[in-house]
Amino acid sequence: MSRIVYVNGEYLPEEEAKISVFDRGFLMADGVYEVTSVLGGKLIDFEGHAARLARSLAELDMVQPISHEALLEAHRELVARNNIDEGLVYLQITRGNPGDRDFVFPDPETTPGTVVMFTQSKPGLANSPAAKTGLKVISIPDQRWARRDIKTVQLLYPSMGKMAAMAEGADDSWFVEDGVVTEGTSNNAYIVKNGKIITRALSTDILHGIPRAAVLRYAAEAQMEVVERDFTIAEAQDADEAFVTSATAFVMPVVEIDGSKIGPGAPGPVATRLREIYIEESLKSAM
Ligand code: PDD
Repeated sequence: MSRIVYVNGEYLPEEEAKISVFDRGFLMADGVYEVTSVLGGKLIDFEGHAARLARSLAELDMVQPISHEALLEAHRELVARNNIDEGLVYLQITRGNPGDRDFVFPDPETTPGTVVMFTQSKPGLANSPAAKTGLKVISIPDQRWARRDIKTVQLLYPSMGKMAAMAEGADDSWFVEDGVVTEGTSNNAYIVKNGKIITRALSTDILHGIPRAAVLRYAAEAQMEVVERDFTIAEAQDADEAFVTSATAFVMPVVEIDGSKIGPGAPGPVATRLREIYIEESLKSAM
């Protein structure tokens, strides 16, 4: 059975959904996206993702072509139509199709943005086997543009980072800039040392993760100490634990960095506990 996807207000089988060859998302990577997870058929932290979407659009002078209510309704509709129990909803908004290729932004009055949404079914997302073994990461230079706080569809370098990791038998890459870790290819990065959770502070250098905000809040509520500061790969290799957070992986332990085991080379208690708390708490407010 084919997926039902959303394109500019219409629900269509994926084979029938089409956008223009002149769409600026395709020609210029002129678009933003969000990924919202689904557990038990409900959206996790939809409001956080919607708020970040609005911010990404505003930072790029893009008009939001769909209201907040319509966005929520479309997310729910896609989850229902595709029978998603555990999985993801992807939302992409581009500056639309001006009818030709031009570096100049089109007038949003005459060129409305393109809105595309689709689901991925991921049974076992909450109970992921990877969370029990942990990820191996390598470090590579951060060669992305300087506005990583905007969730744009410019994902070529993160894709290359993933390929570089796989070529070395690892799962993912952590980006390094000026000697310190920025974030993972598609997640925020953390280490744990002597009970302290250490993660880079928010700035234009990293994406402001939605689970990141939740996890740091839950950690503080559970009396764990959180320090927002830079850390190096050497410090990470010497840490007691490491982990990443994202809407697709929740809290995921990292057990090896550049071939060097973190602690005993198995998921640690802090990451494991935070994963449990995150899933438990997220389910309470799922909508
Ligand atoms: N990626 N940093 C980067 C570079 C990301 O691409 C992501 C998310 C995150 C974590 O953001 P959040 O926790 O809000 O998902 C951090 C999504 C999941 C993706 O591209 O699939």
